[in-house]
Amino acid sequence: MAPKAALTASPAVSKRQRQVENELVAAVLASFDNTPDPRLKQLMQALVRHLHAFITEVRLSEREWQQAIDFLAAAGHITTDRRQEFVLLSDVLGASMQTINVNNEANANATEATVTGPFFAETSPEIPIGGNIAGGAPGQPCWVEGTVTGTDANAVAGARIDAWQADEDGQYDVQYGEDRVSGRGHLFTDAAGHYAFWGLTPTPYSIPQDGPVGRLLRDTGRSPMRASHLHVKVAAPGHRTLVTHIFVQGDGLVHTDAVFGVKRSLIKHVEQQPPGSPTPDGRDLAGQAWSRVRFDIVLAREQQ
Ligand code: BEZ
Ligand code: FE
Repeated sequence: MAPKAALTASPAVSKRQRQVENELVAAVLASFDNTPDPRLKQLMQALVRHLHAFITEVRLSEREWQQAIDFLAAAGHITTDRRQEFVLLSDVLGASMQTINVNNEANANATEATVTGPFFAETSPEIPIGGNIAGGAPGQPCWVEGTVTGTDANAVAGARIDAWQADEDGQYDVQYGEDRVSGRGHLFTDAAGHYAFWGLTPTPYSIPQDGPVGRLLRDTGRSPMRASHLHVKVAAPGHRTLVTHIFVQGDGLVHTDAVFGVKRSLIKHVEQQPPGSPTPDGRDLAGQAWSRVRFDIVLAREQQ
């Protein structure tokens, strides 16, 4: 077997060979010189530079190039309006998270953003403050509450909070292949910016593994598991819409999340409550154990 260094170092190529490769890059770059939209021109020329740098650095074989094409074709074939394999690919490569990082530079004390994932739905049942998003999904009840404020600490009244999550079997409603709606809902903050709802105690689950992205994770010895989380999207006029998660303190998977979505500030103490202990709103849980978590959300101002 070749020594490891031989796999990573760029092999020496002759001056003549380097010139052939550089001339091709220059020709492809020049082919975009007359792009009318300057941003499109910048994007395409940077893409060409980085793509060619990758090919020449790893000395990509024709077989490997074909395998890459086949991989993308397989991702296309499995993609439907309910299953987006390219988003999953972007997620496991950290590209989704890096794009979020680039677009959400720390803004004062605003709550940090993370990946949306493939299971958000534009429509969901509206619940009152204190209502339940579980919709019959199995799992331990979890009381989620907090406030929505601006970076100036003023309450944001009427902010729309969408919450969605997997059930205790690690499945989102849309994964059951029926018209099931559970584990999702939306509500609005009150005049003091306060919100509260019942959801489920988040549990870890695997991202879809039955497509080419799952195969990539297996071939590279990577875990498909996501750290336990609950998704939250918060929108209010004059504020930047926030898409984020609540992660669970003590969940070992926060260090190996398959899509690199964990930010330390989003890890919260989900406090277990003994069976039979009184609930905040008097809900009768028939002696079942439950949990509670506080998540105070700070929205950045919309950029002018
Ligand atoms: C999710 O959290 O729902 C998710 C995010 C990225 C990829 C797959 C699932
Ligand atoms: Fe999720």
